[in-house]
Amino acid sequence: MNTKSNFGEKKKRNNTDDFLVVLPTGRGSRIKENTLVVYKKLQCSCCGKWIKLVNNFGFSSQVDAISNVSAIKAKYGIEPRYRSCHTAVVDGYVFEGHIPAHVIRQFLTEKPQNVIGLSVPGMSAGSPGMEVGDRHDSYDVLLLKQDGSTQVYVYINEY
Ligand code: CU
Ligand code: CU
Repeated sequence: MNTKSNFGEKKKRNNTDDFLVVLPTGRGSRIKENTLVVYKKLQCSCCGKWIKLVNNFGFSSQVDAISNVSAIKAKYGIEPRYRSCHTAVVDGYVFEGHIPAHVIRQFLTEKPQNVIGLSVPGMSAGSPGMEVGDRHDSYDVLLLKQDGSTQVYVYINEY
């Protein structure tokens, strides 16, 4: 089942309570680039937390919890060691795992060449959606290149 959650917390206060207004807050907000298609496993809840955070930032999300997530990752060329739980696709690029929303926005603004997208491999404690008390590990957001190599795109050392 496809569930669509594109309203986040951006509900505008007005008298028409059933009227939701989505206010993209990022730069260069072409509609297409504000909609993430997020592939996740139905049972996994950390993906859901992450989706809430990116929606709060100003993206909207279309959640696909039925497709075979591994097949999606393989289709987009994400090697196993760079995989995490959920895979978001925007404008042909992949955003794997618990990447902070502002980093996705930065990527979509810069559009680096010869890359397939970004990844935070595994499940880094303290990354968005992976909060564990007040434990915040530092972690790298990797640029996944088309030739299979990677490069650190952003190093995150504070929450
Ligand atoms: Cu996760
Ligand atoms: Cu998850």
